[in-house]
Amino acid sequence: MVKDKQAYYGWLGAEEDRYLRLARIYVPPYDILVESIVSTVKEEVEKLNKPSFYVLDVGCGVGNIAYEILKSLPNVYLTAIDVENNMIKVSKQRLAQYAKEGKAFIKQLNILELSEKEKYDVAYTNLVLHNLPFNDKKNALKKIYEALRNQGLFIWGDTIIFSNEDDLKAMWHQRITHAIDNGALEDPYFFIKNFYKEMYEDHSLKPLEMCRLLKETNFSLESGIIDARYGFALFFARKQD
Ligand SMILES: C[S@@+](CC[C@H](N)C(=O)[O-])C[C@H]1O[C@@H](n2cnc3c(N)ncnc32)[C@H](O)[C@@H]1O
Repeated sequence: MVKDKQAYYGWLGAEEDRYLRLARIYVPPYDILVESIVSTVKEEVEKLNKPSFYVLDVGCGVGNIAYEILKSLPNVYLTAIDVENNMIKVSKQRLAQYAKEGKAFIKQLNILELSEKEKYDVAYTNLVLHNLPFNDKKNALKKIYEALRNQGLFIWGDTIIFSNEDDLKAMWHQRITHAIDNGALEDPYFFIKNFYKEMYEDHSLKPLEMCRLLKETNFSLESGIIDARYGFALFFARKQD
């Protein structure tokens, strides 16, 4: 991740509640994305019914998704990685109890440097890969694929764009209106910084491009949710050897 983006996430993670407060302002379906990931992991754990179930959280942020999973699933062992130091600090605090019990492993690591092989039953990444340019994104998906066991499940939540300019304009209009209606202009500097980053510095894909990348990595796509109004997608794909 480039230095500017690391500073952006460093600032977001510097205060305990700042990230989640702003995520709900700037990502209208944030709670739906989180809830969909957590409930899918739960379903997968129940379906496999194994004594120990291994989960990887790529770009864990403040550790809130990992916390929800660990709270309700006693047989889960979860590794949470994030490249940014402040995010790791907050995650370590949030997951301290589970780390003490040997259930949570929190590491400061770039996904591109992950070296684990065929270990995890589920890997998920939410609102992370849009930070990576295309080739890095491809490599990140390969790393995730290698880290999963055969038939392991991958959940990819992310921002999306559209090829049609009218759709794109309508989406930004909805996003910006939602942010303003929810108090974003209390901090106009961050408002501009956030939308500038999203529009000009991020590397979001079209939903079809996300599907193609999954296929190229050899994942088999199971299902997906596309929120065209606000520009988010969640895909569920399985590793197949
Ligand atoms: C928008 S936050 C999402 C956090 C969390 N997944 C969530 O849904 O709330 C993006 C996170 O991805 C992390 N990140 C960005 N690039 C990364 C990379 N290459 N490897 C690991 N983490 C990365 C950032 O530091 C940040 O914490």
